[in-house]
Amino acid sequence: MTIRCVYIPADAAALSVGAGDVARAVEAEVAAGRADVSIVRTGSRGLFWLEPLLEIETPEGRLGFGPVTAEDVTGILAAGADHPLCVGLVEEIPWLKSQQRVTFARCGVIDPLSLSDYEAHGGLKGLRRALDMAPDDIVAAVTASGLRGRGGAGFPTGIKWRTVAGATADRKYVVCNADEGDSGTFADRMLMEGDPFLLIEGMVIAGLAVGATKGFVYVRSEYPHAFRKLRKAIGIAQAAGMLGRNILGSGRRFDLEARLGAGAYICGEETSLLESLEGKRGQVRPKPPLPALHGLFGRPTVVNNVLSLAAVPTILAEGAEYYRDLGVGRSRGTMPIQLAGNVRRGGLIERAFGLTLREIVEDYGGGTRTGRPVRAVQVGGPLGAYWPTSLFDTPFDYEAFASRGGMIGHGGVVVFDDSVDLLRQARFAFAFCAFESCGKCTPCRIGSTRGVETMDRIARGDRVADNLALVRDLCEVLRDGSLCALGGLTHVPVLSALDHFPEDFDRQPAVAAE
Ligand SMILES: Cc1cc2nc3c(=O)[nH]c(=O)nc-3n(C[C@H](O)[C@H](O)[C@H](O)COP(=O)(O)O)c2cc1C
Ligand code: SF4
Repeated sequence: MTIRCVYIPADAAALSVGAGDVARAVEAEVAAGRADVSIVRTGSRGLFWLEPLLEIETPEGRLGFGPVTAEDVTGILAAGADHPLCVGLVEEIPWLKSQQRVTFARCGVIDPLSLSDYEAHGGLKGLRRALDMAPDDIVAAVTASGLRGRGGAGFPTGIKWRTVAGATADRKYVVCNADEGDSGTFADRMLMEGDPFLLIEGMVIAGLAVGATKGFVYVRSEYPHAFRKLRKAIGIAQAAGMLGRNILGSGRRFDLEARLGAGAYICGEETSLLESLEGKRGQVRPKPPLPALHGLFGRPTVVNNVLSLAAVPTILAEGAEYYRDLGVGRSRGTMPIQLAGNVRRGGLIERAFGLTLREIVEDYGGGTRTGRPVRAVQVGGPLGAYWPTSLFDTPFDYEAFASRGGMIGHGGVVVFDDSVDLLRQARFAFAFCAFESCGKCTPCRIGSTRGVETMDRIARGDRVADNLALVRDLCEVLRDGSLCALGGLTHVPVLSALDHFPEDFDRQPAVAAE
């Protein structure tokens, strides 16, 4: 009998909707002698509305079934393509086929902890190239690719690396920011769970480029699966000589550790993250000095997001031009876009920059899950702007978003239907800032609390015009007087809500009961 391979994700998103039960049901079929299949636990492909997505290897490709429950397993293994949950060949599903998977090409495809699977699917090619190159040439390739930091600010990665490479010090570090605190984002987690060797490869290349021999990955404490997967992958990479004192036999060294984060949004801000890694409370350090010159333990440090580092092996393997030729304007390469909130088909879309927000929400998303009309989206995390549908033709690109008062940040798109109350969302922005403030500066620490109180007065219809003017005033103080972008960007969600949805703030005073 032919042994077929069955693929089931062990990614946190898939596990949360029952992928573990599905895998156990397949194991039970095998144990009972009713099926002759081997099981590979993958990451997720990011088609979340189909999770748990079970795939069966066939000569034509992988046949998908979803969303699957444990009860469906016997029928699927017996009926194959004739089963009603069959969605056809996974790679042919238009939602996936129309994407340009560069960073996520292997995610959901391979066994995340098999280095041989990784290599068979193109892994380690970039690192091998880098080991043959001078550090300056690696930095030049990353610069020429046009790669900008995917963690939010979009700072050119090559320029950051050049600063660290040019610094003189007894030690240098590479730190990966895997704190991923933005609302509606999960790409960092998915990558660490689905293709951890890619991140490790990117970090080793960064170390070679800047002259660092030690790296840390700071993983959000809410990501236990990603943390475990990464730790295991690091152990496997060490044992295989991909990490350690003799990288792939080159005589070059790079050691890597995964550390669990402290559980605060501000620990994603790079200087707070460094404080936290040093064992201190996560509070923002004033810049300058830049972490590139005075970072972890006072040494020159590259701090990059997971997705920035994970883009690097492809740049080295396929060439800077390959990456640069994707995208538009100054936004080069691909962006992993995370579609979440009240949306019918949420998940991860990787496309070259330049597709419109409408394509993301309407074509990929398929509208809202509730079936009501889309009213707003928030792009770029909790500090991103709330946009009405009239801005949906904006191309997904750093500059196009900025020119309309928005930001793409880490690529999170959260969808709301027409039942959303933008006053409540604006209040939430202040409340979020008050809750997550590191407390170092007064505008953010106190101003955000005053913002919540003022919003509550507007909601009660109390001197609405005066209080709206006060909100604008507070936003200006927060924007101009905050030390970091938490306080400094809180005005973006608040004012975008106010400017694009003024009707939600037009509250009438409550009439006292007789
Ligand atoms: C309040 C705040 C939270 C942040 N959270 C994250 C985060 O979770 N992950 C991340 O990569 N960058 C985060 N950033 C941006 C980092 O400070 C930093 O710019 C980034 O990690 C640099 O990497 P990149 O150049 O690869 O984007 C945050 C910034 C601020 C101000
Ligand atoms: S703006 Fe807020 S989070 Fe940032 S340094 Fe000031 S108090 Fe801390």
